[in-house]
Amino acid sequence: MGISVAIDGPAGAGKSTIAKIIGEKFNLMYINTGSMYRAVALKAMNENITENNIDDLVKIVESLEMHFEEDRLFVNNEDLTDMINMPIISNNVSKYAAVPEIRKILVKLQQNIAKKFNVIMDGRDIGTVVLKDATFKFYLTASSEERAKRRYEELISKDIEVDYDTILKDIIRRDYIDTHREVSPLKKAEDAIEIDSNDLSINGVADKMVEYINSKIKND
Ligand code: DC
Repeated sequence: MGISVAIDGPAGAGKSTIAKIIGEKFNLMYINTGSMYRAVALKAMNENITENNIDDLVKIVESLEMHFEEDRLFVNNEDLTDMINMPIISNNVSKYAAVPEIRKILVKLQQNIAKKFNVIMDGRDIGTVVLKDATFKFYLTASSEERAKRRYEELISKDIEVDYDTILKDIIRRDYIDTHREVSPLKKAEDAIEIDSNDLSINGVADKMVEYINSKIKND
């Protein structure tokens, strides 16, 4: 039987870095669902389509063929990974991710990938909606200040000019939208293991998860 790992949590909790490590360790395909919402936001913004223009948004989403190669997202065969991680997309994506019609299409796509491959998927609604029956579910958290600090350091290391206070404000605003939207708000699945990464390194979090997965595999 296939295995699937769901990782949810707020922006900047370290989900994607951890998912890559665990994915390599257990030979799972890594699906970064946030990048799929980001790609929709990018395409919509390029065409000046707002989150209120549902018909045009649906047309856009349906015209996008998305697939992952390692941790990179290809959309209609173009690698959009760098573009979708720019701050302008981070600042606007939550509005688009709150549109139920977009979510419906992307969730179906994500579920279809998980039917074909052993996956590790990260996002906001993976354990609660996309992979309700995931073999393993984790919920990663950290304080907003710690998450802002990590995002700041990550962007600076990529030579992207940012300031900490703006990032912190943006994280708090995105948390609010992600946890208060009507459809699939960010929340911990009841059966998810919660890991607070405030005082843990990336490897510390990964070690905890590997230990948990191995102990379950051994006991089942
Ligand atoms: O994880 P991220 O920052 O790349 O996510 C981008 C946006 O998409 C963020 O506003 C949360 C949203 N998102 C979502 O609503 N559901 C998911 N499964 C993944 C991301």
